Amino acid sequence: MDNQIVTIQTQPFEGQKPGTSGLRKKVKVFQQPHYLENFVQSVMNTISVEDRTTLVVGGDGRFHNDIAVQTILKMALANGFKKVIVGINGLVSTPAASHLIRKYNAIGGLVLSASHNPAGPNEDFGIKFNNASGSPAPEGVTNAIFENTQAINEYLISDMDAVDISDAQEIDLNDMVVQVVDSVADYTELMQSLFDFDALKQGFASGQLSICFDAMHAVTGPYAKSIFEATLGAAEGSVINAAPLTDFGGGHPDPNLVHAKELIDIMSQDSAPALGAASDGDGDRNLITGKGCFVSPSDSLAVIALNHRAIPQFKNGLAGVARSMPTSTALDRVAQTLSLDCYETPTGWKFFGNLLDAGKVALCGEESFGTSGDHVREKDGIWAVLCWLSIMLESNKSPESLLRDLWQQTGRSYYCRHDYEGVEGDKANQLLAELTDSLPTLAGTEVSGLMVKAADVFSYSDPVDDSVSNNQGVRVFFENGSRVVFRLSGTGTDSATIRVYLERVENDPQQCDEDAQEATKALGEIAKQLSKMEALTGMTAPTVIT
Ligand code: G1P
Ligand code: ZN
Repeated sequence: MDNQIVTIQTQPFEGQKPGTSGLRKKVKVFQQPHYLENFVQSVMNTISVEDRTTLVVGGDGRFHNDIAVQTILKMALANGFKKVIVGINGLVSTPAASHLIRKYNAIGGLVLSASHNPAGPNEDFGIKFNNASGSPAPEGVTNAIFENTQAINEYLISDMDAVDISDAQEIDLNDMVVQVVDSVADYTELMQSLFDFDALKQGFASGQLSICFDAMHAVTGPYAKSIFEATLGAAEGSVINAAPLTDFGGGHPDPNLVHAKELIDIMSQDSAPALGAASDGDGDRNLITGKGCFVSPSDSLAVIALNHRAIPQFKNGLAGVARSMPTSTALDRVAQTLSLDCYETPTGWKFFGNLLDAGKVALCGEESFGTSGDHVREKDGIWAVLCWLSIMLESNKSPESLLRDLWQQTGRSYYCRHDYEGVEGDKANQLLAELTDSLPTLAGTEVSGLMVKAADVFSYSDPVDDSVSNNQGVRVFFENGSRVVFRLSGTGTDSATIRVYLERVENDPQQCDEDAQEATKALGEIAKQLSKMEALTGMTAPTVIT
């Protein structure tokens, strides 16, 4: 194919700083001339010319995915990459992208997604860079990318026509090969290597296992159909909302009690299957529910850890486990019971990367519906569902009774997250700043009948490379073991979101049956009081409770 490399003059855009999970902005922002190109060139500038070997590209299929993929192909060619691996039609779930990077020994990948945020011309788009181990780039790299975006004055792009990526094939562009891969097949094969598919298949055939998986019109539909229906033999129609749409059907593909309502309704009926599950826009999040029994993500992580021997991937034991700081301490208690190392990291999957690479942990999770193992360097929704199916099969127990076993053995962390969305950025910053200022005198005081034991701002020192990440959220610990955490979201595209995480630990197995929202209500009020929420933001109640 004929093509010329063109150098385009450009100027920096403000605010191209990657957040918790890459750069996320409104589609309209990404549609501005040079906006995406500046960011992509800034990423490529951080990769030395000799290292520009293989790059993986793909995304969750949301509006603007197709255009962004073609732009990246043109820029990869112009910037001297030898090969680009791309999913058919540019679709690759986030965990599958991480797998492709590892499988094809790529130098990294550009993952196009705004995760669970809505999609469409007026909604959100995003891009992030994952490194050679398949992990979202660590802060050192994202800072270097950001510095590049502030100084950029030109980018390189080829003037070639759009590449046909509608089929699995290899296209030779003389200086670069585009390899279009069937990422569903690759990912299915990976799952097959980690789980006992024959046993699971028998479980579905005998009726012991059954599932309803809500793909929320996002990227996991084809993956879920291939694995649960075509390979494991779950009844046809077990995967609902299976066709990926560019606007996710106008919905909000966030697998939680609020947005996965269709699934929750199915699971509350008498005819409900044994397991209900959902995943988000890009397939990294998961929701787990039994018949009328929601499993909180923190508990799901703890159940997987407690029963890890039922999962072939972990049959020789678990190296260690990790959770993000706001995630409940249920995992810590399981780790203690099983004598496993347990690490606490800041919010965001990138912080697990070093621990996984160093073999210190093999199972990680976040309260935000994220769980995964050491097979990729992203959270992995379908993988988590396969873990649950494996545990249910081996134990012959329902999600509800597995949850009860957990609480009986290690107590229960009543847990809730309160999100205050749509807050003006300045006000949200002021709230965190004032709260931080109040911390030194908080310990030893009583708030609504609870004694404050300690309070601090979480700072993380990476045990592998000693890098330090400060300012990762405010923590207030109470004498009775309860905890309240405050932090600002780093994934929003316009106004600020204040996240308030509430945890109340109950060690008495007889007292584990309360409703989580009720059980954490008083803590929610204390959090409002401590942060002067109403006075500073005008908000009297959270906008979303999960
Ligand atoms: C949110 C979650 C975090 C997750 C991230 C990407 O980030 O809280 O756990 O890793 O999305 O899915 P936040 O908006 O809180 O910065
Ligand atoms: Zn996601």
